[in-house]
Amino acid sequence: MIETKTGIAGKDINIDAAGHVTGRSIYVDDIPVMEGTLFAKIFDSPHAHGIIKHIDYSKAETVEGVVSIFSATDIPGRNEIGGIIADEPLFANGKVQFQGQPVLLIVAETEDAAEEAFKEIKIEIDPLPIITDPREAFKQGQLLCRSRTFNKGDTKEAFQNCKYVFEGAAETGGQEHLYLETQGAYAYPMESDSLKIYSSTQGLRHVQETVAHVLNVGMNKIEVDTTRLGGGFGGKEDQAAVWACMAGLAAWVLKKPVKCIPHRMEDMRMTGKRNPYKSNYKIGLDAEYRIIAYETTFYQNGGASADLSPAILERTLFHGTNSYDIPHVNMIAHSCKTNLPPNTAFRGFGGPQGMFVIEAAIDHAAKELGVDANYIQRKNMMDNGTEFPYGQIVAGCEAKPCWEEVVKRYNIESIKKEIDDFNKQNDFVKKGFSMMPVCFGISFTNTMMNQARALVHIYWDGSVSVSTGAVEMGQGVNTKMLQVAANCLGISAARIKIETTNTTRVANTSPSAASSTTDLNGKALLNACEQILERLKKVARNICNEEETAAVIIKDEIVFINGVQKELSWNELIKQTFFRRINLSAKGHYATPVIHFDKTIEKGHPFAYHVYGTALTTVTVDCIRGIYEIDAVHVVHDFGTSMNRNIDLGQCEGGIVQGIGWMTMEEIVYNEDGRLLSNALSTYKIPDIYSVPAELNVHFLHSDGPEAALFKSKAVGEPPLMYGIGAFFAIRNAVLSFNPNAILPYVSPITPEKVLMALYSKKL
Ligand code: MTE
Ligand code: HPA
Ligand code: MOS
Repeated sequence: MIETKTGIAGKDINIDAAGHVTGRSIYVDDIPVMEGTLFAKIFDSPHAHGIIKHIDYSKAETVEGVVSIFSATDIPGRNEIGGIIADEPLFANGKVQFQGQPVLLIVAETEDAAEEAFKEIKIEIDPLPIITDPREAFKQGQLLCRSRTFNKGDTKEAFQNCKYVFEGAAETGGQEHLYLETQGAYAYPMESDSLKIYSSTQGLRHVQETVAHVLNVGMNKIEVDTTRLGGGFGGKEDQAAVWACMAGLAAWVLKKPVKCIPHRMEDMRMTGKRNPYKSNYKIGLDAEYRIIAYETTFYQNGGASADLSPAILERTLFHGTNSYDIPHVNMIAHSCKTNLPPNTAFRGFGGPQGMFVIEAAIDHAAKELGVDANYIQRKNMMDNGTEFPYGQIVAGCEAKPCWEEVVKRYNIESIKKEIDDFNKQNDFVKKGFSMMPVCFGISFTNTMMNQARALVHIYWDGSVSVSTGAVEMGQGVNTKMLQVAANCLGISAARIKIETTNTTRVANTSPSAASSTTDLNGKALLNACEQILERLKKVARNICNEEETAAVIIKDEIVFINGVQKELSWNELIKQTFFRRINLSAKGHYATPVIHFDKTIEKGHPFAYHVYGTALTTVTVDCIRGIYEIDAVHVVHDFGTSMNRNIDLGQCEGGIVQGIGWMTMEEIVYNEDGRLLSNALSTYKIPDIYSVPAELNVHFLHSDGPEAALFKSKAVGEPPLMYGIGAFFAIRNAVLSFNPNAILPYVSPITPEKVLMALYSKKL
């Protein structure tokens, strides 16, 4: 455990907490508005697919307070914002591809004027056929990128030697990010034909680069600054660029500050969500229930343009076998183009969608074979030496230890017996349980992205300024950065200020994503601090007339040389260093070693390490009403050596609840016209405090943790979300104990409506 002194009462407290609860934290919309600021509002397509025949905004232009209306033709550079593939126009040009696609930008003196003008715009569209289903898109050859196949062994041959073979289909729905702070940007013109943009983004580099090429200027003309996010969850990894470009374009052309922040319903309608998937599986087992062969085809619903879907598709394949050791695997993944907003990153980044299918396949086999799924799960659990289908060899494996600890700590046998007894005694209330192991790879799957930088200044009064590429979005990365600097320099956290994330201080940064923000930026920061520390040590030896080889340590702001405390304070040391004209600033850099991946053969070593854990979920279903409660989620999670238990626990709990929400109640609904019906909080339900499991236990598995993890404290942002998948299977099991013939396909979310229908359904 790393000692932390966050400079506020208590230990391991998130330094943002006080600001949040007192309303002092600054988000984009809290930045004081400059005189002359204009307000921009996107006019978006009311149709999902068609040719724009005519747009009439002459009347809108006459609305009092309207300054200008922009369209594709007003762009000085490229009308293009695609991050991975250049297939996404900023403004629809001639054609619309989804409802919610930006067509025009209204810029006005007030938000009300922009709102008024919106109503006066008339658009005529010649409709084209609308596709919302990924299987249909695939049939019609509508793909966003090349399909991918991960293969290990020979499934064709292996299936012939299997005693049992089962085939089926599984589906997972989308998920709205519902960050508390919507998307948004505030841009204002600066000297030398440049812009400063405050953006609510996880990916400053993407925003900077995209605005730059939309305006046809160098990236150096665009400064992006991010204070913090009111949540991102993947939704602001790339999609924040839309609002930054809109505000940027208007500010650039009009030479005025421009704010562009959608209200909640606009945000929900215009942004992409978690990619829904439809999949087929085939699983083969031997007489001992060893899984010998597994095949699956994933149809990813990508929406109208690629956005991050190609990378998400890849991660689905990386996690397609979850925590299992399967000798013969063949997985194919298609990214299908539909007329929906471009779907995008969401906590787990395709991993959860892949894991759901293997869990469905195992559950299917278990039901057919008349055993508990957990028997097959445990029997096939991976271990050190297992080869993932993508060629990496499992090392530092904590899959079995986590599972066994759950079994022991929460006494799975007595839980099973209690559930059996309960179900025997109750006719109209049934309980169910499930086990959900998780194995999640840490690193951006795109090796190039695994790099980061940090900038540290020690001012000559001894106070410290820390900038990294990390974006604070509630996950606590700023607190962890503070811990790194305080720990490395041996000073109180109260001396350190974590600066906003800014492209002029830390350039070319990867998005804060892939659960890797802390590892990458923390290691870069460590590197910067160590550089300065080495210089300080030299000065300390010099001041104290010690040998060059003498061991210097700074602890609690006191200098020790060869274990002896010196009369040399931190402030004095810093002053003396400055007087000697020695650099008190450093730029740190880190690039994850070892990792590599060759897409031409789909093999390599893409992940620095893996995070493991297991969840046991129990639920109660009301078999008259179809409603249910999650009674308990008992987790054993491998944190490595947690550097901040409060934050890590918070990430775990939050991830689990968000995962349960995805699996049970969050239902994205588009109609056949591609119109989002679940377009507000009245029609889209996320877990509130009352739907948090009555019991939520997270046990910290003690493991050494890998070197690649910052202070051997493993990444924690995304992996816990996948424990939520257990809720689906626990509810399904409860329904089946009421009605063994229930028709309840592996289609999530398993909403109360679906449960009610299933309870009284009958297989023919
Ligand atoms: N926690 C909060 N409170 N808010 C968020 O937006 N995003 C999640 C996770 N936890 C998120 C969060 C996602 S999608 C990722 S990838 C990680 O945090 C990113 O932060 P990390 O890399 O520091 O874990
Ligand atoms: N995870 C999350 N975000 C990403 C990734 C990834 O692997 N690759 C690109 N963006
Ligand atoms: Mo997280 S989906 O990698 O932003």
